[in-house]
Amino acid sequence: MDKHVSIEYRVHPNHEELAKDAAIHMARTARRCAKAKGRVFIAVSGGGTPREMFAQLADPEGEAFGIMPWSKVRLFFVDERLVPPDVPDSNYNMVRETLLSRAPIAPEYVFRIKGEHVPRIAAFTYSNIVRNRLGLRRGEIPSFDIVQLGMGDDGHTASIFPHTAAVSKQAGIAIANYVPQKDAWRVTLTYPVINNAAEVFFLISGKAKAEALRSVLHDQYDPVRLPAQLVRPQNGRLLFLLDQDAAELLPELPPEQEKGTGSASERGKL
Ligand code: 6PG
Repeated sequence: MDKHVSIEYRVHPNHEELAKDAAIHMARTARRCAKAKGRVFIAVSGGGTPREMFAQLADPEGEAFGIMPWSKVRLFFVDERLVPPDVPDSNYNMVRETLLSRAPIAPEYVFRIKGEHVPRIAAFTYSNIVRNRLGLRRGEIPSFDIVQLGMGDDGHTASIFPHTAAVSKQAGIAIANYVPQKDAWRVTLTYPVINNAAEVFFLISGKAKAEALRSVLHDQYDPVRLPAQLVRPQNGRLLFLLDQDAAELLPELPPEQEKGTGSASERGKL
């Protein structure tokens, strides 16, 4: 990871505590943004890890639900598989099941990537939706208020996989990316768009991610091999929300980091 990026870490004892903290963190950040700007543009990732976070967010008995400025949320997606929106593999389907079917977000404020289209059309259409909804001129880079990312055990994030074209694609808002490892196309935000966010937080859980996380944070900068290293918000906040299993190979965190107080620390002091 680039040494100039200031990174915050919060490490939790287990997945449930991690998900609860992530939900409250997203809600609090969204509320601050909605208060300042009247709306909040959030881009979320798919996969399995965020399921519990979305469930915590959508739970009316939970702390996060009451904090989230639901009517001000404009929900976007970081990436999507090229599948219909109603199949298990769809990121939209997962967010619909865990969050949208239970939380008071108006459907007109949810902007999915149309995975049922051919890759380049899906990417082109979604790029236009983002541009229009964020009120951008052509060529302007969107700035999401919150981007939530996951990370694979191969160091990928979004749908920017090792040794794929997306690692070096800087132009555009969303692109189609062929992933040989999955023999499948994906649509993903480009990493400059991710890096233009006001805040990016990784949500990473489980022993299976420990080695990749250690590599991303402590190995030589090599984004072709470790695409998650591309995430270096120029002016934004970068936060890693982890459980102990995912963090087990990281050198000792400064004591204040362990208790979830999350104070910024230069990378490399870990
Ligand atoms: C996707 C996600 C992807 C995900 C990682 C981690 O489309 O799969 O957006 O980037 O965050 O693959 O996935 P898990 O949380 O399932 O480990």
